[in-house]
Amino acid sequence: MACQQLSSHSAIVGSEEHDQEAIDELIASLPQTKGVVGPFLSLYQNFWCPTSRIANVIAFQRHFQAKHKDIVLASQPKAGTTWLKALVFSVVNRSRFDISNTPLLTLNPHELVPHVESQQYGNNPRPDLDSLAEPRLFATHIPYPSLPECIKRSDCRIIYICRNPLDTMVSSWHFFLAIARLEGQPEWSLEEHFETYCQGKIWYGPFWEQIMGYWKESLERPHKVFFLKYEDLKEDIVGQLKKVAEFVGLPFTEEEEEGGVIEEITKMCSFKTLKDLEANQSNKVLVINTKVEKRSFFRKGEVGDWVNHLTPSMVDRLNSIMLEKMSPFGLEFKTC
Ligand code: A3P
Repeated sequence: MACQQLSSHSAIVGSEEHDQEAIDELIASLPQTKGVVGPFLSLYQNFWCPTSRIANVIAFQRHFQAKHKDIVLASQPKAGTTWLKALVFSVVNRSRFDISNTPLLTLNPHELVPHVESQQYGNNPRPDLDSLAEPRLFATHIPYPSLPECIKRSDCRIIYICRNPLDTMVSSWHFFLAIARLEGQPEWSLEEHFETYCQGKIWYGPFWEQIMGYWKESLERPHKVFFLKYEDLKEDIVGQLKKVAEFVGLPFTEEEEEGGVIEEITKMCSFKTLKDLEANQSNKVLVINTKVEKRSFFRKGEVGDWVNHLTPSMVDRLNSIMLEKMSPFGLEFKTC
């Protein structure tokens, strides 16, 4: 199914020709912010997109061809994307690999399930995605309304992982500081980071818009969007993994359950196992237009680390954003 992106910029993203000049003009016309975090962000289709990635997002919207069996993993940065990638990769590929020869032993989850907007469409507006093994797994941070129309219309499934904003904010501060240090950029304080986060001027933000887009879609079309919470995974990984497997049409058999396959996967994908692997200790993977140390994706992996960082007034402010933007729609988070 070919994509025809419907948007306010449909003259550009819907055209067949690759019109670099028009794309450059569009990007130059967008509101921009430097923020304090990493590269410039531009307000594209109502979300703050790293400016350097907008052309990739447009190529994805214009050229991506969905297949019915595709699985799209969506998230905010620092919501548990790495964990979700490892888990879903393991569920989907369990008939090809067992735990003793899983590629997770030698590759970082971001190498196994690349992000479309930063990796697959990073250097090539028309990457060859047809040859990928099916079901194909894709990952994205793009908000729901800006996904290619063919993803929304086809039978392919979306799994969205969400995490309480207090921990996500703290995690993102640590992560972006690690990038800044790697690149020798000036550092910034938690307070500065917090301010941009609450203003919504954060990657793929405002965070409440991105979360609510997927939340509402999951309520309206639960067969299409599965809304997973990091905190629920921490609390009941086996139960949640079974739901994930059912959602993607690959439920665990009784034999597998009795044989301990679920526990094997959850153990393989646990924070400790992944963090300690040599594959996740050394080298770097591509994020933005820069490379990030693989170990930066594994920091503490806990629920409630925010208590070690946030002042009571910071907590009040984030809680009031959640109360105003999310609670009225039935979305609540466990924060400890
Ligand atoms: P912390 O910084 O709070 O430790 P993302 O994968 O979206 O970039 O999110 C990274 C966050 O998820 C980090 O949180 C990281 O430690 C945590 N994480 C990574 N792998 C995990 C795993 N297997 N289990 C639980 N948490 C994990």
